[in-house]
Amino acid sequence: MPLLGVNIDHVATLRQARRGSEPDPVRAAHEAELGGADIITIHLREDRRHIQDRDADRLKAFVAARLNLEMAATDEMVKFARRLGPHMCTLVPEGRREVTTEGGLDVAKDLARLRGVVRRLRDSGIVVSAFIDADERQVESALNAGFDACELHTGPYAAAFASAGGDFSRPKLWESFDIVRGAGALIRSRSMRFNAGHALNYLNVGPIAGLPGVAELHIGHAIVSRAVFTGLRQAVADMKAAMSSATHGTELPA
Ligand code: PXP
Repeated sequence: MPLLGVNIDHVATLRQARRGSEPDPVRAAHEAELGGADIITIHLREDRRHIQDRDADRLKAFVAARLNLEMAATDEMVKFARRLGPHMCTLVPEGRREVTTEGGLDVAKDLARLRGVVRRLRDSGIVVSAFIDADERQVESALNAGFDACELHTGPYAAAFASAGGDFSRPKLWESFDIVRGAGALIRSRSMRFNAGHALNYLNVGPIAGLPGVAELHIGHAIVSRAVFTGLRQAVADMKAAMSSATHGTELPA
């Protein structure tokens, strides 16, 4: 089963709504760990709309799980990451107006610059991952740029799952799943780590968790949403259970 990275940005979003001190992302990380989180994921955005610099420092100090810092590939963020020293940095594109990360990083277009960013992070002992669309050209470019890992954007799969009601005999769902599967196989054949995330939830996670060689899933919104009713520890434990559930329905239809 892949490792679970729990994204706790939304806990900080709630705190920032009042610019107060609660709910505390460090407490959230602790609860997530007790529920079985293997990785704590945070996105330090340029506009600091949720996670703040101080949260990252406190999480680094207090969290036993691996810390994954999602960030834009800017000079400011590279300096910050090198000082912080998380286990992994996931480079993501960042749009000021977006509600959440909208698409994958265009590694192919920005290859030369990204190569430098990856080198600087790797020189500090940080594992570097590219959040990309499930696209052959992007995978090959990520390899070229020196990334250790690729996180495939599962948003299109999740959207197809929702519109097909999870019925894998519907071609659109099958096709979008197969695109992730194919890109995942390519990542592995290039000896990079295969991670996935975005818009995964308790219903659609099973088939992705069952993909051959998938190492990590990064999940935020669905877990924090459930936590409102069950508490975060239980919501994380439920996601681990959903990840280990059967991958039934994902074989190629006859
Ligand atoms: N992976 C990446 C790179 C992301 O930017 C996000 C959203 O912050 C996630 C995973 C988690 O997505 P979701 O909140 O939809 O589970």
